[in-house]
Amino acid sequence: MSEDKYKVIFIVGPPGVGKNTQCDKLVEKYKFIHLGAGDLLRAEAKKDTEDGKLINSIISQGKIVPVKITCSLLKKAMDESGKKNIFLIDGYPRNQDNIDGWIEVFGDKYQLVTSIILGCDEAQLEKRLLERAKSSGRSDDKVDVIKNRFKVYVEQSQPIEAKLKEMGPFIEVKADGTVDEVFNKIVSELDQKLKK
Ligand code: C5P
Ligand code: MG
Repeated sequence: MSEDKYKVIFIVGPPGVGKNTQCDKLVEKYKFIHLGAGDLLRAEAKKDTEDGKLINSIISQGKIVPVKITCSLLKKAMDESGKKNIFLIDGYPRNQDNIDGWIEVFGDKYQLVTSIILGCDEAQLEKRLLERAKSSGRSDDKVDVIKNRFKVYVEQSQPIEAKLKEMGPFIEVKADGTVDEVFNKIVSELDQKLKK
């Protein structure tokens, strides 16, 4: 393990599974540096630039932004914060393009500490998202966009979970319990991985 590598944890799972909620708790406990791919994209989308407009339009359809944009936002944020701790990268990779672009940019300059793969039934997720829609103000928390985000998840994101399992260690947690139940399950496995 080389000190100059970017140490990374990927956390992935379907829309509404609670990635952000779990990330907040993980950051509090382990002081990881949290980078939400969706959050970085939403911030960029506010800018009145070509990329900003493109991101806006893609997000509001629930589709996936080209990796060139997403990965460069991630890399920039990582370099700005410095390698002070493990980067907890949330909502990435989302498809094969995201994996290919990551490898192109980071090559062997990163160490995948673990992937955290969260899962949950669609019915429960839809309920949570519609509840969140009442206050999130997100352009993609609408019934038809939510449906498309699930479709994109099933067609593009779920298949690459197998790739993540080949790329390094992983933790797989069914996220259908309470926030604390899910968190405790993650922590018990994560502590083992961090010891190695
Ligand atoms: O992860 P989050 O739910 O915040 O992502 C919101 C949206 O951001 C996704 O539906 C997608 O449009 C976009 N996104 C993306 N590529 C990623 C992560 C998010 O295009 N790796
Ligand atoms: Mg999120």
